[in-house]
Amino acid sequence: MRNWLLAAAAAVILAAPVSANADPMVLKFSHVVAERTPKGQAALKFKEAAERLLPGKVKVEVYPNSQLFGDAKEMEALALGDVHFISTSLSKFDKFTKKVQLFDLPFLFDDIAAVDRFQASKDGQDLLKSMVSKNYLGLAYWHNGMKQISAKKPLIKPEDAKGLKFRIQQSDILAAQFQALGATPQKLAFSEVYQALQVGTVDGQENTWSNILSQKFNEVQTDITESNHGVIDYMVLVNNKWWTGLPADVRDGLTKAMAEATKTNNETADKINEEAKKKIQASNTAKIHQLTPAQRQEWVKAMKPVWAKFEGEIGKDLIAAAMKSNQPKTN
Ligand code: SIN
Repeated sequence: MRNWLLAAAAAVILAAPVSANADPMVLKFSHVVAERTPKGQAALKFKEAAERLLPGKVKVEVYPNSQLFGDAKEMEALALGDVHFISTSLSKFDKFTKKVQLFDLPFLFDDIAAVDRFQASKDGQDLLKSMVSKNYLGLAYWHNGMKQISAKKPLIKPEDAKGLKFRIQQSDILAAQFQALGATPQKLAFSEVYQALQVGTVDGQENTWSNILSQKFNEVQTDITESNHGVIDYMVLVNNKWWTGLPADVRDGLTKAMAEATKTNNETADKINEEAKKKIQASNTAKIHQLTPAQRQEWVKAMKPVWAKFEGEIGKDLIAAAMKSNQPKTN
C-alpha cells in the first residue's frame, strides 16, 4: 500500500506541467556600508533597475551594513555562491591581486575625476579582469571619494600622527603609509571601527566624508584633516563561473542594470560626500582642518616614499598610466 502511494505521488509530480510563472531568481547583494552613502544608493538603484528590466525573472535582495557578510567573509561567500554581488573597497584585494593595490598609493590621484579617467582607460578596465583566474570578475567600478584622516587631536603636520594607532583596511600599502609617519597601523573590519575608536583600541582612521558621517566616526574623533591623500572606490564583483553560466537574457538585463547603477553612483558620489562634510561641519562634533599647500606638501613628502616598496609588484607602467590620468584630456 505504501509503495503504491509513493508511486502515485511520483506520477503526479512528474505529470505536473512546468509552471509558466517560475519563481524569480533571488539575487543577493551584500555590502558593508550604510544606505545613505554612494555605494548604498547605487546598490538600491541596481535592485530597482534589475527588477524593472527583468520583470518576474529576478528579485534582488540588498543587505547593507555587513548584515549578511562583513569584510572577512564576503569574498569567500561569493566564491561559495552564498551571495551574488558584492561591491568591495579596492583596498581589500591584495590577497587576490597585487595590481589593484595601485589605488592605495598615497597622493597618486589628484581627485575623483582623475580616478574616473583611469578606471575608464584600457588599463583600468583590464584590472576588472585581474582576478578571473581566481573566479572573481569585476563588472564595474563604483566611486566613493577621497579619504580624510582623523584622530583625537589635530593632525596638521605629518609628525602629529607619530606614535598614534590608526585603523586601516586590509592593505599592506596602507600599513606602510602609516608606518612611514611613525604611526602604528591596525587592520580592522569596517564594522568594528566605530567601537575601536570609541574605546580607544585605535586613535584614528582614514575614510571618506560619507563613511565618516554614516558610521558616526565624527562623534568619536575630535579632529578631521581634509587631506584628500587617497581614494576609497569599489569593484563590483561576481563569481565568474556563475555569471558566465547565467541565461544570456538574464546576464544581459543585469549588465544593463549595472550600467544604470554605475551611472547613478558616479554622478552622485561627490554630492553625497559634500553633503556629508557639510553635516559634519554643522554638527558640532569633530573639527575639520584645512591644510595650506605647503602643509599638504609635507604629507606628500612623508607618505610618498612608500611607492618605491610596491612599484615592483604593481608595475611602473601601470603607475605611470594612473599618473597620466591626473591631466584632463584637452580635446
Ligand atoms: C567601504 O566603504 O566599503 C568600507 C571602507 C572601509 O573599510 O573603511
